[in-house]
Amino acid sequence: MRQFPPDFLWGVATSAYQIEGATRVDGRGESIWDRFAATPGKINDKSDGSVACEHYRRWPEDIELMRWMGLKSYRFSVAWPRILPEGRGRVNVAGVDFYSRLVDSLLGAGIEPFVTLYHWDLPQVLEDQGGWPVRATGDAFVEYADVMSRALGDRVKRWITHNEPWCISVLGYGNGEHAPGHKDWTKALATSHTLLLSHGKAVQVIRSNVQRAEVGITLNLTPGEPASPSPEDADACRDFDGGFNRWFLEPLYGRGYPLDVVEDHVKAGRIPSASLDFIQDGDLKTIAEPTDFLGVNYYSRAVLRSNRIPEEKNAPRTVHVSPDKTDMDWEVYPKGLTQLLVHLQTEYKPGPLYITENGCAYSTGPSADGRVHDVKRVDYLRTHLEACSDAIAQGVNLAGYFAWSLLDNFEWAYGYEKRFGLVYVDYATQQRIPKDSAHLYRDVVAQNGLDVEQAA
Ligand code: FCB
Repeated sequence: MRQFPPDFLWGVATSAYQIEGATRVDGRGESIWDRFAATPGKINDKSDGSVACEHYRRWPEDIELMRWMGLKSYRFSVAWPRILPEGRGRVNVAGVDFYSRLVDSLLGAGIEPFVTLYHWDLPQVLEDQGGWPVRATGDAFVEYADVMSRALGDRVKRWITHNEPWCISVLGYGNGEHAPGHKDWTKALATSHTLLLSHGKAVQVIRSNVQRAEVGITLNLTPGEPASPSPEDADACRDFDGGFNRWFLEPLYGRGYPLDVVEDHVKAGRIPSASLDFIQDGDLKTIAEPTDFLGVNYYSRAVLRSNRIPEEKNAPRTVHVSPDKTDMDWEVYPKGLTQLLVHLQTEYKPGPLYITENGCAYSTGPSADGRVHDVKRVDYLRTHLEACSDAIAQGVNLAGYFAWSLLDNFEWAYGYEKRFGLVYVDYATQQRIPKDSAHLYRDVVAQNGLDVEQAA
């Protein structure tokens, strides 16, 4: 048995737009994902989040599922356009009430709410006024953080400001794969800055509103490995790690932006010059506001091969990508999680770490016996929990693990094609069926550990 620390926080994670549906109900305003999904060609299966898992109506059933799993915590996000339909100013009481009831019921079920403020559903009106590249959007976010932390702060202690600034800036404003769909790297970099700055300010605001608050940010971190020992591959790895990981970690932990990353962007022709004129005096200090934890979303690693020299001139590959991949085409590589956690702890000393997302897409549906035998997900979950336990054994202060996701849901630009849930959702009937992985997770939580003998 691999035992976890006694107060380890076992949970699952979801996000508002991916599960709630009810996008036009009770005064909710339009979000950038409503607009983006309605734009032809943006979502693979032409779907949107207007129905999703109908969680807005079915949340009592979903809490029941979590109670059945014995979970200690639930990480969910608040839909900003439900709270402030015009982005700022007027508060929509019906929206606040929805989350307030959810929080009360979670607490009643013995499940601690862990709230993410921004998981990608910016009010469309704010995008119309310039979106994340402009500082005013950051100010609006801080006002929203103020409204929510006042409304729920008597009951919610753990807060995440932003989920995955890399995705918001690069996918949303750099390559246009996500809402709002811009392809402009200058905007992407400005976006990352607004996000980090508004994070720092929101940390201060939440702390002032909530007694014993614990506030942090969630980053999607992907460790890179050079495909060979050649200097070119080492440089490709530095470049990847810089843009993906260090660009966010370094300023958050007081080291400022890594300038090699800016040079990479200039060299690649993504931005015209190395000037970062969106940074103002004092910003870097605000961004580095100390936090209570770091949230880590881990799915896979990246193996980097240089494209600066011809393949035949490069050193032979020594690191091979395993053919074991999920439906996202992401390599299954649990060791990367241990390496990442150890690296974060030694390099940045972030205090407690939480895995705020970890999971895999496999399309497995119900068998003739009515159950969902998601063998591959069971394996993924096991090996990644082992990787967490290895990290803890190496001294990492890992305080909790949140599986992505409670339910199959709207996977952004992929629509409903990718199923990440521990619980299967039949979208025609909205029936929920706990998969074998949910049963495994239930055992793990009950034992506060992983039975390794059983796995062999
Ligand atoms: C993360 C997102 C989450 C989900 C998973 C698969 O990047 O935070 O909403 O889409 O990936």
